[in-house]
Amino acid sequence: MITVSFIEPTLSAAKSKSAADSRVVLVAAEGELSPAAQALDSQLGGAITSAITTGRFKGKKGQVLSLIAPHGLKLARLVLLGIGKAEEFDELAAQSAGGALVAELGGSGAKQVSVSVEAFGGVKLAATEIAAHLAYGAALRSYRFDKYRTTTKPEEKPTLTVLELEVKNALAAETVFDPLGQVVEGVYFTRDLVSEPANVINPVTLAGKCRELTKLGVQVEILGEEQMRKLGMHALLGVGQGSANESKLVVMQWKGAKKDTRAPLAFVGKGVTFDTGGISLKPSAGMEAMKWDMGGAGTVIGLMKALAGRKAKVNVVAVVGLAENMPDGNAQRPGDVVTSMSGQTIAVLNTDAEGRLVLADALWYAQERFEPRLVIDLATLTGAVVIALGKSRAGLFSNNDALAGQLFEAGKKTGEEVWRLPLAEAYDKQIDSPIADMQNISGTREAGASVGAQFLQRFIQNKETPWAHLDIAGVAWADKDSNVVPKGASAFGVRLLNRLVAEHYEGK
Ligand code: BES
Ligand code: MN
Ligand code: ZN
Repeated sequence: MITVSFIEPTLSAAKSKSAADSRVVLVAAEGELSPAAQALDSQLGGAITSAITTGRFKGKKGQVLSLIAPHGLKLARLVLLGIGKAEEFDELAAQSAGGALVAELGGSGAKQVSVSVEAFGGVKLAATEIAAHLAYGAALRSYRFDKYRTTTKPEEKPTLTVLELEVKNALAAETVFDPLGQVVEGVYFTRDLVSEPANVINPVTLAGKCRELTKLGVQVEILGEEQMRKLGMHALLGVGQGSANESKLVVMQWKGAKKDTRAPLAFVGKGVTFDTGGISLKPSAGMEAMKWDMGGAGTVIGLMKALAGRKAKVNVVAVVGLAENMPDGNAQRPGDVVTSMSGQTIAVLNTDAEGRLVLADALWYAQERFEPRLVIDLATLTGAVVIALGKSRAGLFSNNDALAGQLFEAGKKTGEEVWRLPLAEAYDKQIDSPIADMQNISGTREAGASVGAQFLQRFIQNKETPWAHLDIAGVAWADKDSNVVPKGASAFGVRLLNRLVAEHYEGK
């Protein structure tokens, strides 16, 4: 992560004691200058104003303009950061602006950047909040996974390492940022796990990564195949049956609200570390993407890191089902019937519909052991949800309108948006089987995401337990850069669920 620091502003930007090589000032829509921008403008004989009148930069949201080596200032660059309409500048917009800044300056040669943060015009956010959310967006956007690049030339490497926010009440700004910084740590953890190839991250090594959370006070238990067999988890075990890597179930508990006697929240994740489809083998083109079929588990793990990191006052359990779906002489066959931990039998008609098999047992285990007051599962479950919603929204399925509403709102506020899709008896009927209690596919391509969700619902023990399923197949990986998410593993859901917890389930 880039280093973020908050410092009190110096009286004159020109005389700033900061060692920053680049200074950033805020400009609102239609070229409305912040006080710091105004001061510099007059010092520079109107250079900022003329840059705005002669060019396309008008202070729109996400617009950035660098003035190189401004005459009379000891700066490599003076940067104008557009914040859009002042009244509309909210947390998300501030995060986007921070992201835009990193996109512009990250590889520009700028090493240390100082932003003069002020609330001006009709901006409703406090300056401290602007500073914290600018920093948050910048940190989120500056993620890189460079571990396996050994021949990158120096001129191709990012230069920006330090982001300084000059703001009154710097200490207060830092207090706002602290928990957000912990969320960034969670997001980075998820992105690292999801970015790793499947020869590095398999069920065994991923379980090992979960173990690292012990340092933060998370209790971590790892169940192997022997233990899962005793528990009757043959749905999950069947998926990993063809793999040389042992399947695992990891249970993580964060007890941040010692006095809260209510049942914990449960988060459950699909952790298929590679999905070849199994004997129902996927086509080879694009199969490499299936290294991120553990994205649901990755998000759940990063969420635990974020919650524990910021010492969230909540009791949470997380269960991730980890398996590798491989074709092999020992792999399960289409048509095999397995008995899940719930006792319900499943005809596995398509070994590529494996996520639901993993979740069936992980969900059951979470409920059987913890009787949680709410269950949310995340999974890269279906290609169908990508067809329905594309890559900007996750599919949301829920048996509870209040929970669905909370998730929708949290999505709006974090930019990790969800869209509710239906559960209905008509979809449920399609997985009735002539030989077992159910089958793992419907046999048609219709409403594939709903059918998958319906399958999972058969493993929700109590209708009264609020349950939500997030199908993140379209959003776990970003094909292109966006404001706070660089191309690659997005960690979709960490910010969303952190917000959900903070807003509705956390003690004060
Ligand atoms: N992991 C895939 C779903 C997926 C597809 C994730 C594209 C990310 C991008 C899942 O295990 C799968 O193969 N689902 C099948 C289900 C079908 C056989 C009912 C699918 O969507 O084709
Ligand atoms: Mn599959
Ligand atoms: Zn899968």
